[in-house]
Amino acid sequence: MGNIIVIGSASIDLVVKTDIIPEAGETVMGSSFFTTPGGKGANQAVAAARLSDQVYMIGAVGDDDYGQQILSNLKENNVDTQFMDVIDNESSGTAHITLYDNDNRIIVVPAANQYVTAERVLPKLAQFQAGDIILMQHEIPEETIEAVVDYAVQHQIKVMLNPAPYRKLQQDILDKVTWLTPNETESELLFDNQVDSALQSYPRKLIVTKGADGAVFFDGSLQKVPGFKKEVIDTTGAGDTFNGALAVALNDNKTLEKAVDFANLAGSFSVTGLGAQGAMPYRKDLD
Ligand code: RIB
Repeated sequence: MGNIIVIGSASIDLVVKTDIIPEAGETVMGSSFFTTPGGKGANQAVAAARLSDQVYMIGAVGDDDYGQQILSNLKENNVDTQFMDVIDNESSGTAHITLYDNDNRIIVVPAANQYVTAERVLPKLAQFQAGDIILMQHEIPEETIEAVVDYAVQHQIKVMLNPAPYRKLQQDILDKVTWLTPNETESELLFDNQVDSALQSYPRKLIVTKGADGAVFFDGSLQKVPGFKKEVIDTTGAGDTFNGALAVALNDNKTLEKAVDFANLAGSFSVTGLGAQGAMPYRKDLD
């Protein structure tokens, strides 16, 4: 079993619950507010580390209180933080989240996450080997992802790219990654509404997640791996839980179908509590 190395964002989520979404120029009353650890990278690292040992995170925080909270939370969740940088005179990343009608709207301010550059990341990969799995998302600079993917190909390290939030993806990256895990919206944008043919073009590589309906991939025929229905409290972080758990299951050498099933189950737990990491499951929950 290899290592899982998450390269990505680590932020603090500032979450408002509301029954009314304001129009431009309007002020409304929310019902509650809380802050909680987030960032797609950190969420995926925590999801993986609750299910497996040997999860490393490569990322950056600011030299503020939020940065210390982010690092403490990663350590408490069994994530190895030796490769996390603290950036002088910079704020930590924040995500400004509105919870409304069982769904979320998110504005991300990357701040220190912009410092997750190829120059900082590549030297840290020297201790990892063929067979390890790198997990990345789109909340760090595109150049970093390109450089890491090239490094990984040269060193036979597998790469799972969760292309969230959506941004245009170079064909070269798509060709080189081992797995690509967009949700339905991202896959429509990435493949110009031709998702069915994209699934056939990238068998066992392209895995499209469909929330509570599970996930699909192509393997000679379309494989639909059903989801698990649970009472929804907060969907924030469900996709991150899926990705972290999928990396763990593939690292455990499960078949792709079994790995997706395991990830669907983990993702279904995560919607049952508040906050991106609040209800992420531990191994004993899934057993
Ligand atoms: O995927 C959920 C995450 O997206 C939140 O935790 C927030 O930080 C945003 O980055």
